[in-house]
Amino acid sequence: MTPYDRVPYGGWSYAFTHPDVLATVARLRGIPSAPVESCRVLEIGCAAGYNLIPMALSLPNARFVGIDYAARQIDEGCGLVAQLGVPNVELHHLDLAAWEGALGQFDYIVAHGIYSWVAEPVRSALLSICRAALTPNGVAYVSYNTYPGWHMMEAMRRMMLYHIREIDEPGQRAAAARELIGFLVKATGAASFRLSSYPAAYEHLLNGYFHGILNMPDRADSLFLHDELEAVNAPCYFHEFLAHAGQHGLTYVADAEFGTGLPTSLPEEVAANLSAMAQSDGDVGQYLDFVVNRTFRRSLLCRDEVALSPAIDLEVLDRLYFASHARGLLAPGTDPEAASVEFVAGDGAKLTTDHPVTIVAFTHLKSIWPRRATLAEAQEMAYVQLMETNPHLRAELYAALTGADPERQAEDRRLLAANLLAAYCTSGELVSFHLHPGSFTTEIRTRPLASGWARWEASKRTTVTDLRLRRVALTPHGRYLLPLLDGTRDADALQQVIEADGSEAAAIWRTPASLPPEGLQIELPAPSLAEQIAETLEQIANSALLWGWPIPGIDQAISGIESSFGRFPESETRPPT
Ligand SMILES: C[S@@+](CC[C@H](N)C(=O)[O-])C[C@H]1O[C@@H](n2cnc3c(N)ncnc32)[C@H](O)[C@@H]1O
Repeated sequence: MTPYDRVPYGGWSYAFTHPDVLATVARLRGIPSAPVESCRVLEIGCAAGYNLIPMALSLPNARFVGIDYAARQIDEGCGLVAQLGVPNVELHHLDLAAWEGALGQFDYIVAHGIYSWVAEPVRSALLSICRAALTPNGVAYVSYNTYPGWHMMEAMRRMMLYHIREIDEPGQRAAAARELIGFLVKATGAASFRLSSYPAAYEHLLNGYFHGILNMPDRADSLFLHDELEAVNAPCYFHEFLAHAGQHGLTYVADAEFGTGLPTSLPEEVAANLSAMAQSDGDVGQYLDFVVNRTFRRSLLCRDEVALSPAIDLEVLDRLYFASHARGLLAPGTDPEAASVEFVAGDGAKLTTDHPVTIVAFTHLKSIWPRRATLAEAQEMAYVQLMETNPHLRAELYAALTGADPERQAEDRRLLAANLLAAYCTSGELVSFHLHPGSFTTEIRTRPLASGWARWEASKRTTVTDLRLRRVALTPHGRYLLPLLDGTRDADALQQVIEADGSEAAAIWRTPASLPPEGLQIELPAPSLAEQIAETLEQIANSALLWGWPIPGIDQAISGIESSFGRFPESETRPPT
């Protein structure tokens, strides 16, 4: 019996493993990666398929194969595949060390959370599979724990493993390990010890770690037991990982979180000094890890004979889609007339620009979020909006928009692309790049169809996986409504279901979602049921949970979906090739 038969692993999905991310990053490095919508994907160590099944549901014309050596997890996953009716995914009970190639070749291979948790020679076998099973332009995703960050984490791990050495029962092991860290936090804070080394740093480290393990999400013991306390946990330095990949005929492409593999997010002077110290491209990443004390990487690999572009060709961006939720603010210290705007992402990353088309394009992207737009759409929208706000520039903007002034149009396109790339290289939170337009729509169709996976998840937990594979928190109303969005019910039908539901669960629709602020004199009318439904549908649509494409067999059957396709934006109906 494997440790994962005893305690199955977490059960999450990971947006960075989506083939769209792998394909997009590969294109930036000049690899003609396989089209996302019809690709073949292998996941090694897929557990119960909580990553692979939603991916398969989001790309019905692609094929997905998962392998895992824990029979209990594969059985659970096969049960889910049967229950949800997912024809394009197969899960196999297989030890990766026994791989014989019978499952064929794959455009994308995903190995998340496994490389560091298996011993040699299994680590080597994993890379051998990547080499043998990748198609010529295929891309493998391998995540792993890294030094130097893990040196600090290792101190915690080894103390905990010592403390629980005599305990076998998993729940007791997790509890005792937490207890030890809790004790150390209190003990180091209580007194100053004569023999302490680096006492302030140690106390800070213990506190941060304790906070982290207390705030782990659902099925926390499972994550804690496997991620921190599993028998094997072998972090490595980035340069060691590159050398290991090289031994197996594989080359580093980039990190899935593209910007995190580059020194672009560092202050200019730091980045310049770092680059001067590095003796090769790979070395830049290594010194970057030294600077940020990195603990984890999500690296993409390809076969070593693939020719990678030394620099990113801006023309690649003509084939991509972009999404941004960054907030635009007047850049500190700038003259408002000069209109230099600072765009700030949720993670604090910033892009400052005074290029009007870029400023309006980013504003447009925020307004359509989470929908994605092409470069051409963003540029066109920028011209249209600039014409409205600057009537005196109407003629020249119109000439650029229509192509009557091709030089201006090309120069604006180049500057917009360069700014988008600079933002993406700083943080994927500022702007995300996509080869695929996304399987979701933000439009609320007559009979909305929500992601089958999220509908199933909503009955189990308060956060669900959206069609981009991100986690989304649901309101109680959203959690009630989501499972009903199976493409057969319009707003009236949804209302009838709620009205006929005498159970406790339906009580949320009878109490207003929020009370008027204290001290407010006017009586606000309680929203009607129809208004509450409309508001909840909008929240669900803006969370990328509504299916946006025809599904063979379903789109003909559900007239509401078919009839609304005419209103789909041009860019979403025709993905660029
Ligand atoms: C830490 S879990 C990660 C699971 C999943 N990829 C995720 O990130 O949620 C490691 C997974 O690798 C699987 N695994 C470990 N050794 C394996 C092997 N030799 N062959 C196949 N699967 C293996 C385990 O059963 C487990 O599901």
